[in-house]
Amino acid sequence: MTASTGQSLTDAVLATFRDAGDARFRQIMSSLVRHLHGFVRDTELTEAEWFAAIRFLTATGQKCDDKRQEYILLSDTLGVSMLVDAINHRKPGGATETTVFGPFYLPGSASLPMWSDIANGCAGEPCYINGRVLDVNGRPIPGATLDIWQTDGDGWYDVQKPDAAFARGKLTTDGEGRFGFRTVKPVSYPIPTDGPVGEMLGAMGRHPYRPAHVHAIVSAPGYQAVTTHVFVAGDPYLGSDAVFGVKDSLVTAFTAHPAGTAPDGKPCAVSFHTAQYEFRLVKE
Ligand code: BEZ
Ligand code: FE
Repeated sequence: MTASTGQSLTDAVLATFRDAGDARFRQIMSSLVRHLHGFVRDTELTEAEWFAAIRFLTATGQKCDDKRQEYILLSDTLGVSMLVDAINHRKPGGATETTVFGPFYLPGSASLPMWSDIANGCAGEPCYINGRVLDVNGRPIPGATLDIWQTDGDGWYDVQKPDAAFARGKLTTDGEGRFGFRTVKPVSYPIPTDGPVGEMLGAMGRHPYRPAHVHAIVSAPGYQAVTTHVFVAGDPYLGSDAVFGVKDSLVTAFTAHPAGTAPDGKPCAVSFHTAQYEFRLVKE
């Protein structure tokens, strides 16, 4: 077979794995080859551009280690992660929507009683978040777990700082499906830009910011777990999230209050914020 720039080259490559045993693998690889060839034809890629792409992908791999996953960041910033999320988590109306997982989750957070302070002394303005976990018919789910993580008030996750542990914890809903915890108000923050993805964002003329949010994995026996965020209404980056993770249903008001009695019934000596959110889970 003589190589050409036309369809015959694409067909020749496709023919090489038409007998591959796994039908799904065949389908995925066929689509990949067709789209890759279409992309190269569409852009009339130069050899210099082809090599720049090879260098970029090499640098992306070299940036990965047990803490940093630059390929996932690439997927996030190109909207691929949210597309995969949308395809795999089609929820009925009324169910809490999913969004990106992100790289800053740690398994094994401590289980804490209602109204615990998860901030562990980190920087930021006090914030009390409470709400309920319900089923899609509005019935409370007692004993649901909320695994929470977020930045401090300076926009850092604890895992980005040496030997730090803050702003994460596991809460359990009470008999009426209620939860509550004290934390700090999350702020918008840049995703890591010290790698090839940061360079790519710069070349695209894009900023690296995510709007302020609290991450939550909400789960309960007999229900589908949901990996999601609660976003802060009014954040300037809600319309331009670097990873396309915002969904309107996940945005809620954070209200400022002067010093006084906080939602946990205790006095708070400085001004604070409050937010409420209801999570709705779908039966398994
Ligand atoms: C995050 O929200 O933690 C996050 C998500 C995607 C990329 C980087 C950070
Ligand atoms: Fe985050």
